[in-house]
Amino acid sequence: MPDPPGPHDDLLVEQLDYYRARASEYDEWWERRGRFDRGPELNEVWFAEVTALEAAIDALGPFGDTLELACGTGIWTRRLRPIARTLTAVDASGEMIVQNRARLGDDSIEYVEADLFAWVAPRRYDTVFFSFWLSHVPPERFEAFWDLVGRSLAPGGRALFIDNRWVEAGTSSGDRLGDRHGTTVPRRLNDGRSFRIVKVFHEPADLERHLGDLGWEAHVTGTDTHFVYGSASRR
Ligand SMILES: C[S@@+](CC[C@H](N)C(=O)[O-])C[C@H]1O[C@@H](n2cnc3c(N)ncnc32)[C@H](O)[C@@H]1O
Repeated sequence: MPDPPGPHDDLLVEQLDYYRARASEYDEWWERRGRFDRGPELNEVWFAEVTALEAAIDALGPFGDTLELACGTGIWTRRLRPIARTLTAVDASGEMIVQNRARLGDDSIEYVEADLFAWVAPRRYDTVFFSFWLSHVPPERFEAFWDLVGRSLAPGGRALFIDNRWVEAGTSSGDRLGDRHGTTVPRRLNDGRSFRIVKVFHEPADLERHLGDLGWEAHVTGTDTHFVYGSASRR
């Protein structure tokens, strides 16, 4: 039976439209180029924290059979590939998957184009990884999303995740970051088109507690400014 309609359902369509249209310019955010270039000092903080984050994730490997949810252009797929035994990468945007394939050029990666709010994993994995996705899950779908994660994990498996902290320099100079406790933000593309998307900022202690309430043993931490990251296993 499909989920009953939620207050953010129209936004989920607009959010996906945004990412489809953004696929070819998406990496500018991660690489602090164009509108995301906040100047040398702020960029330096960003890149130092990216390096720390990458080291923290690498240290959690090897990952075994791995499922990456909302894989995007492959910024993290390329990091997972050497430390995963097998890798399945899911995204609802075919445009993102095209970018990802081009970056990775690896036929051993299984790509799946699917809507994560409707998809069910056909098998179980040792690791389920998602970066900069959880903040796009509306609050009323948080529990169902974690249910999908739980049902995708093999016994003893682990979810690993990364997301943004609420910090102004995290987005482009022309965009509003969004409210600390809000759920919706406007985002623009380079051509000026504007979209509304879901953006829920999670802080480590709150996320750990929330996941604990849902039956997860979660360890969530953050870099000083930009990123929150953690792991969770079913209790
Ligand atoms: C912020 S990006 C994160 C991409 C990548 N994980 C990263 O760290 O760069 C969000 C991703 O979610 C995908 N997405 C949006 N709505 C989706 C949905 N309903 N189901 C699956 N993927 C979706 C977008 O296409 C986009 O690739």
